[in-house]
Amino acid sequence: MTKKNLQVCLSPALFDLYADRKSIVVVVDVLRATSTMCIAFEKGVKKMIPVSTVDQALEYKATNPDYILAAERNGAPVNGFDFGNSPQTYINSDMKGKTIVMTTTNGTKSINIAKKDHDVVIGSFLNLKALANWLIKQERDVLVFCAGWKDKFNLEDTLFAGAITELLDKSGLYNNSCDAAQASKTLWEKGRHDLFGFLENSSHRKRLEKLNIDSDIHFCLKQSKTTKIPILINDQLIALDED
Ligand code: MLT
Repeated sequence: MTKKNLQVCLSPALFDLYADRKSIVVVVDVLRATSTMCIAFEKGVKKMIPVSTVDQALEYKATNPDYILAAERNGAPVNGFDFGNSPQTYINSDMKGKTIVMTTTNGTKSINIAKKDHDVVIGSFLNLKALANWLIKQERDVLVFCAGWKDKFNLEDTLFAGAITELLDKSGLYNNSCDAAQASKTLWEKGRHDLFGFLENSSHRKRLEKLNIDSDIHFCLKQSKTTKIPILINDQLIALDED
């Protein structure tokens, strides 16, 4: 079998350089959009609609009053919305069967960039092993897409890229000649044993700590706590289960 390509894109600003119109794109935004998405489906959410702007979210609500709106900007909830972007929301309240319209600073924007020409799935540390197993079964090229922060590199998404690159490399199915994938794997090998400590000076950990949401950081760094794999179908996320 011919080996498949494995690439890592470290910022939305670079996506066009990696876009090949055939890879499965794994969008990752560890703190916190894709972690929140994974745990929301684990807790029974039915659908999640990732939109890029607050106005788009409000438009969905206008025509679907039973939709729940979740919006975050710069780490904080957007005034007037039902929820911000904390994964704890989906643990502490019954959202079974609900449809969530979600907009975040970087994560949902990245999904809407990738969806133009690629199949899109959602990755986080929370579904790491299940996602790696599912990707290997697809026998397709993979592009790990780090949402970063406002087009800048961030540590946490790159650590995830390294973690999933390591798992995919072990399968022997992928030709990993991407320098960003190699660099992310090296970062993962350096930080894997204490992710929270490794992120001590990361920009988004500091941003979230200022907002007193440290607990979200610890939660989003837990590994393989769900087998749900959110996949984008017709602009809406539903969950496959790699159980
Ligand atoms: C993002 O979109 O960058 C994150 O979801 C921001 C956050 O939740 O703090």
